[in-house]
Amino acid sequence: AERKLILDTLRLSREQLLEVKERMSDAMLKGLSRQTHQQASVKMLPSFVRATPNGTEHGDFLTLDLGGSSFRVLLVRVRAGTKHVEMNQKIYSIPQEIMQGTGEELFDHIVSSIADFLEYKGMKGASLPLGFTFSFPCYQSRLDKGILLKWTKGFKASGCEGQDVVKLLKEAVRRRMVYVSLNAVVVNDTVGTMMTCGYEDPQCEMGLIVGTGTNVCYMEEMRNIERLEDDEGQMCVNMEWGAFGENGELDDFCTHFDQTVDETSSTPGKQRYEKLISGMYLGEIGLLYRGKVSERLKTHGIFETKFLSRIESDRLAMRQVRSILQHLGLTGSTCDDSVLVKEVCSVVSRRAAQLCGAGLAAVVDKIRENRNLNHLSISVGVDGTLYKTHPHFSSIMQETLQDLAPQCKILFRKSEDGSGKGAALITAVACRVRQEQS
Ligand code: BG6
Ligand code: GLC
Repeated sequence: AERKLILDTLRLSREQLLEVKERMSDAMLKGLSRQTHQQASVKMLPSFVRATPNGTEHGDFLTLDLGGSSFRVLLVRVRAGTKHVEMNQKIYSIPQEIMQGTGEELFDHIVSSIADFLEYKGMKGASLPLGFTFSFPCYQSRLDKGILLKWTKGFKASGCEGQDVVKLLKEAVRRRMVYVSLNAVVVNDTVGTMMTCGYEDPQCEMGLIVGTGTNVCYMEEMRNIERLEDDEGQMCVNMEWGAFGENGELDDFCTHFDQTVDETSSTPGKQRYEKLISGMYLGEIGLLYRGKVSERLKTHGIFETKFLSRIESDRLAMRQVRSILQHLGLTGSTCDDSVLVKEVCSVVSRRAAQLCGAGLAAVVDKIRENRNLNHLSISVGVDGTLYKTHPHFSSIMQETLQDLAPQCKILFRKSEDGSGKGAALITAVACRVRQEQS
């Protein structure tokens, strides 16, 4: 009975989800307004990407993809008019010490990886334009400049917040004396993902990530982005919705377990919505798991998303759930423990998917209202390990969205190529504009 009571606090009613949608809509307006954007939890950052791809993008590009579960360097060849994009990539690790060391160490490591990649491709000395997918909140006043507002997702390298990451990259290039182009644009992973999917589908006007972190971008009308003077056309806005809740917007819905996850994290009070949804934090579910093994599960990060996804797989017998628990070092887990864990996992991930759907409902209704439409039909490019591997997340999220935004018909497209392809397309446009201007 006690177990049931606890699980019930993690269930959200339709009214509560509608309230989340309303509050997200308010937070978006606050972030877009000239007067209030500084206090807003959802920053609504202009990306300086003004259009989705049109097929004329052309050239060879180097792209970096930093901030998800793996750090990648890619060579992307885009040929105008062919829709054919050739990609070669190599994954590099970012050791914990570097993530949490100094900014110089982090950027030196990035530049060494680029140098290694060029050597591996037999392209040492090649000077290709660089698309830098940097999946953290950056204030941009142009495409080739991004001031890191704050680290998220466990990154902590010192001396980077408040700095332009392109400048940090250039300084590392000079320190390491490697020869790479200093022609770089900064791209959030949501924006890269939207562009990747937009290459195949012109209706793709949003990007969604549900992975280590969670975030959304979408095409907003320039006239609504009040802090920019220009009123013509559209621009992609990186919402940074993971920070929703930092002004207390989610307090009514949080349980004391959520409070504990937040307080024991390395960023208390920050990224409250993200902590209820994304892969990096859902694993903290361990705190809910009481009984003799709970101390072990309290170890941060031990309960990885992949276990969550696997435990909830319908085909998995209880015996196998038990073996996963044993693999996690939870020896002595009984059959009863396994039932409990499976139950807790499913309630927590359902809540995550519903919260995400409620946020999306606010975004698509805003796009619909911007265009004065009764019905809106668009697609969303999606990436992230949780979304891609969890057996129920995407269907619950879509059900919730449909229910809370019935006037919108939304198609979700999984990005197969990561955000690197999209970052290359953005770089291509930036290079063309630069040439036209010079
Ligand atoms: C990748 C994108 O495929 O997905 C990254 O290329 C993005 O840019 C990532 O950050 C998100 O997923 P995860 O699960 O790796 O955080
Ligand atoms: C975090 C970052 C954001 C990114 C998201 C998904 O919320 O702040 O920039 O898009 O994670 O990776």
